Amino acid sequence: MGGAPFGALPVPEDRLMRVALVVFAFGCLIPLSLVGWDSGVSRSVSLPQGRPEDCRLQEELPPERKNLKRLNNDCKKCHADVHAEWTGTQHAKSWTDPVFQAEISKLDDKGASCARCHAPRALWHKEMGEIPAARNKDRDLGVNCVTCHMLGNVYFGPFHSQGHGGVEGEAVYRSSTMCFSCHGQPEARKEHDQMTSYLDGKAWSKDGKTCQSCHMPMVERKLVTKKSLKMKFLIGVQPVRMHSFTGARRGEIVKGCADLAVVFEGEKVVASITPKTGHSLPCTTHREVVLTVVQSDGSGQEVSRETRKYTFQQGEALAPSGTTTVEFAAVVGAETARATLVQVMTKTEGRPEDVRQPIQEAETKR
Ligand code: HEC
Ligand code: HEC
Ligand code: HEC
Ligand code: HEC
Ligand code: HEC
Repeated sequence: MGGAPFGALPVPEDRLMRVALVVFAFGCLIPLSLVGWDSGVSRSVSLPQGRPEDCRLQEELPPERKNLKRLNNDCKKCHADVHAEWTGTQHAKSWTDPVFQAEISKLDDKGASCARCHAPRALWHKEMGEIPAARNKDRDLGVNCVTCHMLGNVYFGPFHSQGHGGVEGEAVYRSSTMCFSCHGQPEARKEHDQMTSYLDGKAWSKDGKTCQSCHMPMVERKLVTKKSLKMKFLIGVQPVRMHSFTGARRGEIVKGCADLAVVFEGEKVVASITPKTGHSLPCTTHREVVLTVVQSDGSGQEVSRETRKYTFQQGEALAPSGTTTVEFAAVVGAETARATLVQVMTKTEGRPEDVRQPIQEAETKR
């Protein structure tokens, strides 16, 4: 597992185990060289087998798929759990999202340039980590199964497998490089860049966490849900990654995503915030993280209330590594201090009300 620049990571052992079992099951029919656990994790990956080599060099991409909708629906027949999860994500709604629709309705090009990430063609048309090409058809399908897993009729995934005539295993699926294609293009779209703060943080440099570690949690289940398949030995319960891609829109990941402490220190009240996100907090536009410190007297009467706001836009987000401390003057007579940290998805066209999501709270006595 070499020192490749963008988060080369050890493969969790249970996953290796799974590949090993598959190889064993085939009685070593699959040459080991085909098993994709090499650590070729970098911004540019070598061309996988089966990828038309000239695609990237051509100005004109090959014609778009006519059957995208049917193809994407097909995956549901055998990967029902994955499909159900995907349906609930912002990836499935990346074009239909009302906030996005409100923004593009004001643009002259009606969002044509946004389609590169919000309704892209297959990622494999470009190098992984490069901004994808825009799709002109079926934009409502957003970022879908085909976008991330196919090129022409060839399937790609984290491991080599015998499903549907063969899946090319590519280590890039287990690295953040894949997500950087859209979540790491500060020049094209600095509003949606989680990469820069992630690369500054310790989640990857110290803890070796990828975007997938936190946004695609591991679960034990059948990879293939269809019962009538012949290769039954391939489709038992195994550790797989969920396609939940949870973010603020579904809330649950926000709770507890930072530690918070508050203490009286002489004439001061000091609050400290330690994000546990892999990137800045907040990590995108239309978000505010609000710290509120309320001091109360012995009878519980509020004597002071102060707030600090952290936003992504103004480069004033909380850094992902280390602790941010904030000092307030301790009010005479104050006996307790209570701190709360909340993320707000702010009201904008397409989101009629602020959505408040509690992160953490802490209390101290003098
Ligand atoms: C007829 C059933 C069937 C359909 C339809 C199907 N798959 Fe599969 N898929 C399988 C089987 C079987 C495997 C092999 C499972 C294994 O290796 O354990 C597999 C494996 C995969 C893998 C590789 C898993 C790994 O561990 O690397 C990916 C990725 C994948 N499928 C994606 C898709 C996508 C995307 C679609 C829709 C375009 C799709 N599949 C449609 C049956 C199906
Ligand atoms: C380089 C890829 C890329 C391009 C180009 C791009 N986006 Fe995005 N966009 C993303 C990603 C990734 C997210 C999700 C992460 C985030 O919210 O930062 C996102 C999220 C959004 C959101 C949701 C934020 C919210 O508060 O709910 C809106 C709205 C949006 N984009 C609008 C646009 C518009 C309008 C354009 C074109 C002018 C555009 N984007 C172009 C990658 C891109
Ligand atoms: C250590 C765990 C961790 C890692 C690693 C991580 N994230 Fe996150 N991410 C979180 C948490 C927790 C939240 C919820 C807090 C928030 O909204 O910022 C989040 C939120 C998000 C959001 C939703 C923003 C919103 O408000 O809707 C996006 C998009 C995102 N992460 C993308 C990424 C990408 C891309 C990577 C890899 C470059 C990554 N994350 C790495 C933990 C992580
Ligand atoms: C944004 C890109 C993206 C989209 C969209 C996406 N996938 Fe995946 N998929 C991944 C990544 C990344 C992995 C590998 C995660 C890992 O092993 O670390 C993966 C893994 C898989 C696997 C193997 C599971 C495992 O853990 O071995 C299957 C099967 C699969 N995807 C099917 C689908 C299907 C079906 C859809 C559509 C419903 C879909 N994917 C949509 C990125 C995507
Ligand atoms: C083809 C472009 C593309 C790729 C590749 C991609 N994303 Fe996204 N992602 C988006 C867009 C666009 C959105 C926002 C859609 C919106 O809200 O309008 C998004 C939203 C998200 C969210 C926010 C969900 C929420 O509810 O706030 C998370 C988390 C996320 N992506 C994680 C990932 C991870 C992890 C990977 C890599 C395995 C990845 N994405 C790969 C385009 C992409």
